[in-house]
Amino acid sequence: MAQRKEARDSLDNFPTPPWATRALLEHIIEQGGYTDHLSCLEPACGAGHMAKVLAEYFGSVSASDVYDYGYGDIADFLSADVERGSYDWVITNPPFRLAEEFITHGLKVARRGVAVLVRTVFLESVGRYERIFSSTPPSAVAQFVERVPMVKGRLDKKASTATGYAWVIWEKGSDRGTRLLWVPPCRKSLERADDYDEQYSSDVDDGFEAPVRDQNKLLL
Ligand SMILES: C[S@@+](CC[C@H](N)C(=O)[O-])C[C@H]1O[C@@H](n2cnc3c(N)ncnc32)[C@H](O)[C@@H]1O
Repeated sequence: MAQRKEARDSLDNFPTPPWATRALLEHIIEQGGYTDHLSCLEPACGAGHMAKVLAEYFGSVSASDVYDYGYGDIADFLSADVERGSYDWVITNPPFRLAEEFITHGLKVARRGVAVLVRTVFLESVGRYERIFSSTPPSAVAQFVERVPMVKGRLDKKASTATGYAWVIWEKGSDRGTRLLWVPPCRKSLERADDYDEQYSSDVDDGFEAPVRDQNKLLL
């Protein structure tokens, strides 16, 4: 199976299938609708595939991206002047090569927590252990038991993948250590008929050349 190789300056534009975001809220974060009065920032929103789902659950959702995909504001999350503690949650599928920076910055911006959808291999590496996990361990890692296929620049209901994904969550004030959770099989129940209606095709040449069929996922 080909490995993904992204150019260092790639935007890493891999939209999240809507059901994978619903899985975070339904199975990990949301219990009894308590997010409906909370605010959320999706700071790498792309064409809005994750932000639109977050709006199904949160009272308010702000969305931005460094590139103009026709959805949300235009902003580089890592250099934009976002007030500390200005959102309850920061939730995103960040560009993989900048995931650490998104987490660190997100923890400043969020009052309650940060959740990122990352390839499960993100949990590896001495460097990430030393820079993040040893000093700021997540409160939960929620591993998808199903595959979450992601394709560069568009949603594809029929895509497949060999890549595992997890939601990694930092819930502020949690002192229970890092919980390992599983996102149970839920694609069938959380996928909606119109999720793939607005086929978005990127016209952004971000240097990706390897054959791509993969990407995956989940959280708290
Ligand atoms: C993996 S895609 C995820 C898109 C969207 N979050 C979703 O889940 O469908 C990563 C996104 O990060 C954006 N991005 C890359 N660098 C960024 C930065 N410094 N600030 C904000 N967005 C950035 C890319 O343009 C791309 O849309």
